[in-house]
Amino acid sequence: MQLTFCRLRTHQWCFLLFNLVLFHILLFGADLMEEYFLRALPTAYTDVNVLQAREEARKLDLSPMKDNISKAFVIVNSESCSDKEIFLLALVFSGAGNASRRQVVRETWANATHIHNYSILVLFLLGKPSEESTQLEILKEMETHPDLIQGVFPDAPENQTLKTFIAVEWIVTFCSQARFVLKIDEEVFVNVPALVEYLLNLRARNEDVYLGRVVLRESPDRDAQSRGFIPPQTYPEKYYPDYCGAEAFVVSQDVARKVFVASRGVPLSVPPGVFMGMCAKKVGVVPVHSSRFSGKRHIRFNRCCYKFLFTSFVESESLLLQEWEEISHGQDCTLLETYYGLVSCRVMTYLDGFKRLSVDALPGLGFSD
Ligand SMILES: *[C@@H]1O[C@H](CO)[C@@H](O)[C@H](O)[C@H]1NC(C)=O
Ligand SMILES: *[C@@H]1O[C@H](CO)[C@@H](O)[C@H](O)[C@H]1NC(C)=O
Ligand SMILES: *[C@@H]1O[C@H](CO)[C@@H](O)[C@H](O)[C@H]1NC(C)=O
Ligand SMILES: *[C@@H]1O[C@H](CO)[C@@H](O)[C@H](O)[C@H]1NC(C)=O
Ligand SMILES: *[C@@H]1O[C@H](CO)[C@@H](O)[C@H](O)[C@H]1NC(C)=O
Repeated sequence: MQLTFCRLRTHQWCFLLFNLVLFHILLFGADLMEEYFLRALPTAYTDVNVLQAREEARKLDLSPMKDNISKAFVIVNSESCSDKEIFLLALVFSGAGNASRRQVVRETWANATHIHNYSILVLFLLGKPSEESTQLEILKEMETHPDLIQGVFPDAPENQTLKTFIAVEWIVTFCSQARFVLKIDEEVFVNVPALVEYLLNLRARNEDVYLGRVVLRESPDRDAQSRGFIPPQTYPEKYYPDYCGAEAFVVSQDVARKVFVASRGVPLSVPPGVFMGMCAKKVGVVPVHSSRFSGKRHIRFNRCCYKFLFTSFVESESLLLQEWEEISHGQDCTLLETYYGLVSCRVMTYLDGFKRLSVDALPGLGFSD
């Protein structure tokens, strides 16, 4: 083996090297390009409206409104945040009836309360269930786990944008000392330590942070038969502003305040991610892309890969428990292991994607979701 390697000619070495480079470009090139083009550039705000909104957000004080805003909640949980130094508040969007999922989240990634001495707070945001018995269970759950916030709006898929607005309102009113806020869906696994590490490294620039998996130039759904139909009266332009996918994104406290100020006049009938993007655009906040957020994709499990990623979509509760078991009992990953992990989970996830594509392409089998 060694002998044959030694006998390779220069052009053969070049060919090998070329393939190695090509392999890495194919695997990681698109991510690097995206991150390069979507990095935040220092912006000079010249638009008067943007400047005014930013100034208004800076002066915003909702403390006299607390009682009134509390009326929008069944469980307002205003004490959960008060008088505490909080580095990262993770607000998990949970379905009212999904108590078992919430328990799995508490037992897995949400169990961390401190990373490097920076405090983490995980809270669940729900709406109202349609059944009274579920509401009684929620009140009982609150006695053992006082980590719930519940709005008065019905918890329906159509109301996710309203839920997002309520979340922002709650943050700026009752948790204005949290430095960063992670909005996360309950189906998503979060690597809290890696995310905290990343946010700590932003030190120089911890204002105007709006970070996630950026969706570029998406067109509104103009199919009148579709459930997500957006009529031109609601949103007339051809493309939405760029926004962070709603499954998981991070904003700094100042961005929450800016979005709150900008939300007046933004329709609640657009999808939740788009709503955030439209508000952010009005106050001159640019979304920053990181491919470490997986969006709606499940990343095939590999311990060292999961120690690098920020999020992965893990719908199954038993899978999440099993993955967590491996993550929390494994040792630290060396650089080489991380490299191998990234290559392996990337390749496997691509293959999973192909599998899904080819299944979707077969008509009549009906495997689509
Ligand atoms: C209280 O909130 C309601 C809507 O939730 C609003 O119409 C009303 O003006 C608010 N009252 C005060 C004093 O701000
Ligand atoms: C949560 O509940 C909703 C219905 O309220 C359901 O569609 C969804 O699949 C549930 N998710 C999980 C993770 O249990
Ligand atoms: C959560 O973390 C604590 C230590 O911080 C540990 O004692 C406990 O067993 C963990 N809970 C679960 C369910 O893993
Ligand atoms: C963590 O914070 C506490 C109180 O804020 C302090 O007493 C302790 O020394 C800190 N630990 C480290 C490792 O920085
Ligand atoms: C969404 O919330 C609004 C306001 O509370 C409510 O009127 C509406 O019925 C809800 N939508 C669904 C589909 O439940």
